[in-house]
Amino acid sequence: MRKAIISKNVLCVLFLLCQKLTASFSSWDDLDKLPLPAWYSEAKFGIFVHWGVFSVPAYKNEWFQNNWQHFKYEDYVAFVNKTERQNFAYQDYAHRFLAELYRPDNWADTFAAAGAQYVVLTSKHHDGFCMWNSTSIPTTWNWNAVDIGPRRDLLGDLSSAVKRKKSPQSGKKLRFGIYHSLLEFFNPLYTYDKGNNWTTQNMVDLKALPELYDLVDRYEPHLMWSDGGWEASSTYWKSEEFISWYALNSTVGKEAVWNDRWGTDTQCRHGSYLTCHDRYQPDGLVDKKWEKCMTIDSTSWGYSRVSDVLQYLNTTQLVHTLIEVVALNGNLLLNVGPSADGTINPVFVDRLMGIGSWLSVNGEAIYSSNPWKICQNETKFSVFYTRRTDVLYAHITEWPENSLLRLDCPVPTKSTRVNMLGLDDRSEISFSLNGNRSTGESMVVQLPLLTPDTIPCQHSWVLAISNLANLYK
Ligand SMILES: *[C@@H]1O[C@H](CO)[C@@H](O)[C@H](O)[C@H]1NC(C)=O
Ligand SMILES: *[C@@H]1O[C@H](CO)[C@@H](O)[C@H](O)[C@H]1NC(C)=O
Ligand SMILES: *[C@@H]1O[C@H](CO)[C@@H](O)[C@H](O)[C@H]1NC(C)=O
Ligand SMILES: *[C@@H]1O[C@H](CO)[C@@H](O)[C@H](O)[C@H]1NC(C)=O
Ligand SMILES: *[C@@H]1O[C@H](CO)[C@@H](O)[C@H](O)[C@H]1NC(C)=O
Ligand SMILES: *[C@@H]1O[C@H](CO)[C@@H](O)[C@H](O)[C@H]1NC(C)=O
Ligand SMILES: *[C@@H]1O[C@H](CO)[C@@H](O)[C@H](O)[C@H]1NC(C)=O
Repeated sequence: MRKAIISKNVLCVLFLLCQKLTASFSSWDDLDKLPLPAWYSEAKFGIFVHWGVFSVPAYKNEWFQNNWQHFKYEDYVAFVNKTERQNFAYQDYAHRFLAELYRPDNWADTFAAAGAQYVVLTSKHHDGFCMWNSTSIPTTWNWNAVDIGPRRDLLGDLSSAVKRKKSPQSGKKLRFGIYHSLLEFFNPLYTYDKGNNWTTQNMVDLKALPELYDLVDRYEPHLMWSDGGWEASSTYWKSEEFISWYALNSTVGKEAVWNDRWGTDTQCRHGSYLTCHDRYQPDGLVDKKWEKCMTIDSTSWGYSRVSDVLQYLNTTQLVHTLIEVVALNGNLLLNVGPSADGTINPVFVDRLMGIGSWLSVNGEAIYSSNPWKICQNETKFSVFYTRRTDVLYAHITEWPENSLLRLDCPVPTKSTRVNMLGLDDRSEISFSLNGNRSTGESMVVQLPLLTPDTIPCQHSWVLAISNLANLYK
């Protein structure tokens, strides 16, 4: 595999010289000023998919190659000793990556039913394996899903399937995004540049950039989700040049969105929105749009066969996270790790279906909602707020004692109405207009008496509160 890459270098240089590379491009500051496409801020919820050769060992973590061969962690070394013949190489796993039960249309249906508005697949993780038809890029030769393993354009098939779907909850078309790792730990082009303190750019010119342009040209993704930029600067990676082209010159047009991991100098600073670090969630409201990416299996992004079911977050935790994130102006990108055969473990599907049924009842308080500038949550009760033009939504994440909910933030008027989303009759809920002077509460709401038969959903219950005195204060 390494030999193959080097022998192709000469070809690649010629290939790139023939390509007309961009002459002028915008700076990060200019790119930051481009408006964030509405689809992204309205979406609120997406599915992240970590799938690749690391899904074959499916042992503990998607950093399998690095953990085994670089860090030489004892558990990884022992695992390979026990399961493989001598002189086994990581690359050999690709022959067992067959995706023989892969049904991209079925995946897309599952993600749509979950209420997701976008799907982001790993086109290439840190092991460098390309999940798309990258056969026109010589440096990906024999290390992509068309040349070996599945012998199929895994990413292209999912991209088409996802773009055909409509969200049952929002009625909008699903969007497709692409994760791409700039760095590859064991690629000699990369280690050579690193050895030269980034004064050479072989990895950029022969690998990363041709891949990024190819992905956008072929699949027209609405989101480019970069990773692996934590060792070298965005100048080394020529990221401004690529994003300028993606945002201004590519066929994706004004719908293009990109994250913030394009080099050491961009993370948490430059991008259509911020991801900062994995599982990032700010303490309070931030103006710049952000995204929390997190896993359902709390231990791994790639599928891990050794994860206990208790290590998977439950649906209540996931719904609560979605609510907190949306209340603070974020999007939630929730990760599943499919198996090497192309199936998705039913534990993941169970969580996705749970979120989807919650969103079927409460979607109007999530999709296209805005954070409430005045107050995002209550301090005494676990209540979070979102709002639309003339309604405030109070997300109750713990049912209060005696069904009496005391709120400090919303100030009602004589025409204020309170309803619970999903109640058949939309029966009005009573509250005391004067709150409770002795405790300073602005509103005391008597929640309806609900039984397992009549409760509209699990996990969290949403009140729609209209005609407030301070919705826009
Ligand atoms: C793995 O196998 C090698 C070679 O047989 C041996 O030297 C090493 O001790 C083994 N390591 C573990 C953790 O089993
Ligand atoms: C890959 O793309 C090439 C054109 O670049 C095409 O000829 C080939 O059929 C594609 N293969 C697959 C498996 O999609
Ligand atoms: C590597 O490059 C950086 C930035 O140009 C410089 O500050 C640093 O001294 C260099 N390190 C070495 C070991 O040459
Ligand atoms: C965009 O296209 C214009 C006109 O063809 C060209 O001058 C410019 O260099 C291109 N910019 C990028 C970043 O590709
Ligand atoms: C979900 O997980 C949380 C945190 O561990 C726990 O408190 C809660 O009881 C769990 N809910 C269910 C339904 O298992
Ligand atoms: C709720 O709000 C309080 C005060 O505004 C804040 O300190 C706290 O971190 C918030 N809790 C959550 C879970 O966001
Ligand atoms: C107001 O607060 C006091 C003190 O907590 C409590 O005794 C009283 O029942 C409350 N009144 C209402 C209407 O909730």
